Amino acid sequence: MGAEANPPAVRTSAEWVAYFRANAQRLLPVPWDAGAGVTPAELAEVADSLRAWQLGETSDGRHLLAAAARHAAATGDPAFLDAVRLFIAEEQRHGADLGRFLDLAGVPWKTWDWGDAAFRAFRYLLPRIELWATVVVMVETHALLYYAAVRRATGSAVLRRVCEQILRDEVPHLRFQCERLAVLHRRRPRPLRALTLAAHRVFFAGVTLAVWVGHRRALRAGGFTFGRFWRAAWARMGAAWRAMDPRAYAWPEEARRVRPIPWFPE
Ligand SMILES: [Fe+2]
Ligand SMILES: [Fe+2]
Repeated sequence: MGAEANPPAVRTSAEWVAYFRANAQRLLPVPWDAGAGVTPAELAEVADSLRAWQLGETSDGRHLLAAAARHAAATGDPAFLDAVRLFIAEEQRHGADLGRFLDLAGVPWKTWDWGDAAFRAFRYLLPRIELWATVVVMVETHALLYYAAVRRATGSAVLRRVCEQILRDEVPHLRFQCERLAVLHRRRPRPLRALTLAAHRVFFAGVTLAVWVGHRRALRAGGFTFGRFWRAAWARMGAAWRAMDPRAYAWPEEARRVRPIPWFPE
């Protein structure tokens, strides 16, 4: 994890707002008229966990919005709040699409799930945008593995397309959160940052185990063994850790502040 030769700058909130707006205009068409198109055997493997993810995707984002509003005010970046609003709208679209699929398949929605309850409790207890974004990065890392597994586990054109759209959206979501964490970690002294990452690893191990326990049936139907899932989760999270490393980015405003040393020969 060293500094890159020509690292990119983190995107501005205005750039993220533009991205989310453009993304909403280029959604993949979902063949809803085709019906659920899922066999009872396939449905048995994925229905329970899909209901839980559907519930998880449909948060109203109240606590995130409050944390984002405080962060936007503290950093003088009001557009950040707009970006977070658009981010929440995408998550709600995921929930709505999954709900529509469940309706087509005649599967009732879930109103409570222990994993969702734990995730909500964390979000409730974590008023700081940093902790919030950290938890979201971990859950979205697992979402990438989960929806890829569901897509492999079904022949349903509707469900496969819904998964594909979610997967497309989640990659930039991870980037959005990771860039914000890079901003937040930037001024942290190195030992504290190392401590932060150590805490991440412990927490991520727990989240990964919990996701496997709660969703192993669908994950297995999508071709994962525990070993493969564990390795894939850590590889994905490794990429997220690299993307939240402040050294992965150029910080132009700092570069401007660096004064040339007068006596240093050019
Ligand atoms: Fe999502
Ligand atoms: Fe997401």
